[in-house]
Amino acid sequence: MPVTTERHGDVLVVIADNPPVNALSAPVRKGLTAAIEEAAGDGSVRAVVIACAGRTFFAGADITEFGKPPIEPMLPEVVDRIEASDKPVVAAIHGTALGGGCEVAIASHYRIAVPSAKLGTPEVKLGLLPGAGGTQRLPRLAGVAVALEMVAKGDPISAAKAKQAGIVDRLAGEDSLLADAIAFAREVADVRPIPRASERPLSPDPEAIAAFEKTNARRFRGFEAPAANIACVVKATETPYAEGVEFERQQFMKLMFGVQSAAQRHIFFAERKASKIDGIADDVKLRPIDRVGIIGAGTMGGGIAMNFLSAGVPVTIVEMQQDALDRGTATIRKNYDATAAKGRMKPEQVDQAMGLLTPTLDLNALADVDLVIEAVYEEMSVKQDIFARLDAICKPGAILASNTSYLDVNVIAQATKRPEDVLGLHFFSPANVMKLLEIVRGDATADDVLATAMALAKKIRKVAVIAGVCHGFIGNRMLEPRQVEALKLLLEGATPEQVDRVHVEFGMPMGPFQMADLAGVDIGWHRDPNRIENLRDALAAEGRWGQKKQAGFYDYDAKRTPSNSPRVAEIIEDFRKKTNTPQHEVTDQEIIERTLYTLVNEGAKILAEGKAQRASDIDVVWIYGYGWPVYRGGPMFWADTEGLKKIVEGLERHGFEVSPLLREKAEQGGRFSA
Ligand code: 3HC
Repeated sequence: MPVTTERHGDVLVVIADNPPVNALSAPVRKGLTAAIEEAAGDGSVRAVVIACAGRTFFAGADITEFGKPPIEPMLPEVVDRIEASDKPVVAAIHGTALGGGCEVAIASHYRIAVPSAKLGTPEVKLGLLPGAGGTQRLPRLAGVAVALEMVAKGDPISAAKAKQAGIVDRLAGEDSLLADAIAFAREVADVRPIPRASERPLSPDPEAIAAFEKTNARRFRGFEAPAANIACVVKATETPYAEGVEFERQQFMKLMFGVQSAAQRHIFFAERKASKIDGIADDVKLRPIDRVGIIGAGTMGGGIAMNFLSAGVPVTIVEMQQDALDRGTATIRKNYDATAAKGRMKPEQVDQAMGLLTPTLDLNALADVDLVIEAVYEEMSVKQDIFARLDAICKPGAILASNTSYLDVNVIAQATKRPEDVLGLHFFSPANVMKLLEIVRGDATADDVLATAMALAKKIRKVAVIAGVCHGFIGNRMLEPRQVEALKLLLEGATPEQVDRVHVEFGMPMGPFQMADLAGVDIGWHRDPNRIENLRDALAAEGRWGQKKQAGFYDYDAKRTPSNSPRVAEIIEDFRKKTNTPQHEVTDQEIIERTLYTLVNEGAKILAEGKAQRASDIDVVWIYGYGWPVYRGGPMFWADTEGLKKIVEGLERHGFEVSPLLREKAEQGGRFSA
């Protein structure tokens, strides 16, 4: 039984125990209803406490039930039954009271929480809204401004903040929640009228709503759920509770059966699945990582170092020249100072993090570290030399990782006598910000090395995905056909603005040419500056290296505001003539087909080759590494919604070689996502 009751004198304590996070699945909802009925039917019960066993108060509705036939009793009925109780109900909150859990709490008459607890309505992150009266009760308890922040953004708030906002009535002792809740219940047992959130008055606040919408317009671009959440709060301010709830229900159902919520729920589970490594037992013994070494103090090395410093892991960072080392160290401090200036870090935390950093010019200083991450120039001979030296220097059992973006990790591993300890850890730039980490599994990489890397990723708050060895691994390998096609499209008649606009309208943060200008048009070109094989080389050869030169695929002013470049149009025209490329009118749809269908096609090849464990891992890579819009669920999920047959037809129309796996799925009416 996931819900049990116990008597503490005249208080009925209801305890839910549904590991791991006390999701409000059907048996829990049934148990809660039964418990409230039990209290109602027992004259000796004067008040009720609802609490949860395990690590948290209810963390929400059971997401695995979504999209399936509903099971009675539904959550809105359960919370209404709780609120209707004629005996006061106290919610005793620890861990995270999220979504439906928060709604159970605010339908209860009183709330007591431990200081470490958090409350929130993250439904918007699943493309939903709090559908059990949350959008109507929350503004009545906390006011319009706080409610909007909570429902439309979905970030949880601390117990202290919730108390300040009027959501929580009292803070309990960290270790005495149940006793404090029972005492609270006795105190309020005879208070009448019983305070019910749904009965509280609420005034319209159009200014708060307008200000909120304006501030967050950019953040909400493309998403359906934030607007629906806002609309529900607006409704709460304009209509009686019952009408508001009706409106909330309609909006909830609309979102629930829409593509965006399906996509966002897919990503919720995809992210969790990504941490599971096929063929490796859950209980494999991990190697301790108490000290990390990083080779290279450039942008990448410095950013990687910050991840560990922020997580409290000491880092030794090695450079070849003192000035490069000093520059790297100064950049790390500057980045931390900037974070502190924004109020996201305390000055003493900056000092603490910097105190864990040991800069050195001596590779031998890595003799005692548990993990080395090499982040130097992308050149195989350089990497092999470093790994051979690390092999001689590092203690047995140390994990040796390369941050290479493209190179063969197996070849790098062969430079050592311990290839089982070698793997790729591919961070994305800026490495202290981007959430994605590709963990590249070499042929010889030991199971415990992979499992340790996965656990470490969690510690430094990355979302990690296992990738096999191939050129560009998962993300960059799929990026390549997109880049190639984008350049060809320019020669055939599209403009950089058109190609970028199509990608931005699709939901990407920027298009391929905006990205090239930001990252550097000259990347990879310096190795052979005489080479002009494509349009990108032609721009690089003219010094149009991107934003840093105020000239790339666009022209930039001193504030880096882009404008269309007549010179680029000339270069395109020259190159087109030189290559004899015929022009035609390029439609937006053609751009989608040639840049995004090809990307999906490459994803299917990666999957067929076993270079990704599952299609959802590919989606995770694109969401967290390349800004693919989460409401489209990643490229493989999007392919399913677009229709695999349509994608195959599009690829064939443009003469691409279609992945056999993609073709097979299309022919059999299959899907990439479950
Ligand atoms: N339903 C079903 N399963 C859930 C779940 C939920 N609401 N929340 C978490 N889980 C599962 C996870 O899938 C995971 O399963 P796995 O072990 O098989 O992979 C397991 O519980 C543990 O989850 P995490 O690995 O995420 O554990 P953490 O300790 O890192 O995080 C958490 C805990 C903060 C609760 C996090 O799981 C979370 O954010 N959960 C989702 C919360 C949420 O979105 N709630 C709203 C649901 S929608 C709703 O309530 C609608 C209502 O308004 C009508």
